[in-house]
Amino acid sequence: MAPGFISGNTFAKTSKKRIALVGTGIRGITFWGNRVVREYGDVVEFVGLCDINPGRVEFGKKYIGVSCPTFTNFEEMMARTKPDMLIVTTVDATHHQFVIKGLEMGADVLTEKPMTTDEMKCKGILEAEKRTGKKVIVGFNYRYGILPTRVKELLVENRVGKITSVDFHWYLNTYHGASYFRRWHGERDKGGTLLVHKATHHFDLLNWWLDSDPVEVNAYGALEFYGSNNSFRGEKCRNCGYVDKCKFYYDITKDKTYMDLYVANEKYDGYIRDNCLWREDVDIYDKMAVQIKYANDVTVSYSLTTYSPYEGWRIAFNGVNGRIDSWEDIPWFNKSKIEQSKLHAKEMDQSDSKEREDYEQIMVADNFGDYEEIKVEKARGGHGGGDSRLQDKIFKDPNAADPLKHAAGSRDGAMSILIGIAARTSIEQKRPVKIEELCDIKPMPNRG
Ligand SMILES: NC(=O)c1ccc[n+]([C@@H]2O[C@H](COP(=O)([O-])OP(=O)(O)OC[C@H]3O[C@@H](n4cnc5c(N)ncnc54)[C@H](O)[C@@H]3O)[C@@H](O)[C@H]2O)c1
Repeated sequence: MAPGFISGNTFAKTSKKRIALVGTGIRGITFWGNRVVREYGDVVEFVGLCDINPGRVEFGKKYIGVSCPTFTNFEEMMARTKPDMLIVTTVDATHHQFVIKGLEMGADVLTEKPMTTDEMKCKGILEAEKRTGKKVIVGFNYRYGILPTRVKELLVENRVGKITSVDFHWYLNTYHGASYFRRWHGERDKGGTLLVHKATHHFDLLNWWLDSDPVEVNAYGALEFYGSNNSFRGEKCRNCGYVDKCKFYYDITKDKTYMDLYVANEKYDGYIRDNCLWREDVDIYDKMAVQIKYANDVTVSYSLTTYSPYEGWRIAFNGVNGRIDSWEDIPWFNKSKIEQSKLHAKEMDQSDSKEREDYEQIMVADNFGDYEEIKVEKARGGHGGGDSRLQDKIFKDPNAADPLKHAAGSRDGAMSILIGIAARTSIEQKRPVKIEELCDIKPMPNRG
């Protein structure tokens, strides 16, 4: 038996879409694994799973509930299973290897965000897509959320006239924000900094809402809270000597799935899921401020905060005839008491509980006029309802009409990360950075 092949023998062809997945971490086995089997099992089937960690891929197979073969060697999986579609859910900085090879080996590729982490890898993906004629889809779930979609409709309707500037601020709380600093996301060479890993969602929303391309970026950022900023640090939360003293103590032993997925398989690759967020090798920014100029002359002021007491965001579109304001989860706006420690788990929840909590708000104020309050249904689970709509489009009805252009391809994937990469470069080189310095794509005022 070849060394990269682990187990399973189902190679028989059926009429269902044949899917292979690389990266059986939490996103791979839940959203792109278990949920896909549960919701779309009549039209898709898994033909292969791959991960560098042999224990994690075996657990993933059980968790997803499939009988397909498992591999630790990616090319072997592709050659033996010949999937129609490859799903890439590995560590961000490795996405490009699998996207490019996957296209070259004959599959369409659906990659998790961020598409990749630097401009050379981005170029490689765009070239491979062109060369092979195969297609890249980027899993931008936020676009499909109920609230972002309503905002997009108002912008398409030109409700407050031409938009001239945008204020956009995103707050990660001391649970969700901290989680990035415990894992590989805290290291620049793995996640490209949160300007790429996390803000790719937000920059993609901006590009889509404004229907224009970014041309220039200026940014500031620093690491002032996590990493080496604390006076003490341990090796990992389990058995740490500072459990009583550390407000960020995280008890992974209470989560059976995490124990089975990560802790049980540490022995293979040393991936410590409850790593110390005060460790010295954290080298990303924990506060970020970015200004973006668009080809249609819109200017954006964006910020990302990672140690906020509450999780949420607010945005305002300033138009020549008025202003559109919206926000999510700012506690005193809705006079609600939100349990911050549970918020992120609810956002990631794929149980499709259909849990609905009152409504979201959009305020439209007219210059010299009154304001209109627009109430939007609130969906807490699956990233504001975006997760399920994204998967319906990909698996259930790929040819469905898409009047608001929710579907995202490689150009969208590129344009969103290029803002983050330009912001990173701007911080390092202390100067504004043009998108055209990083990529051949010509920014368009109106993407049409
Ligand atoms: N769209 C969203 O809302 C959303 C949410 C969560 C995660 N994600 C994305 O999903 C991806 C995975 O995130 P996660 O939280 O599941 O991380 P994770 O650390 O749980 O999983 C990553 C997996 O990739 C595997 N891996 C790493 N390098 C590999 C390689 N060279 N070959 C094969 N396998 C390799 C690891 O062993 C691990 O099992 C990331 O790109 C992340 O940005 C997106």
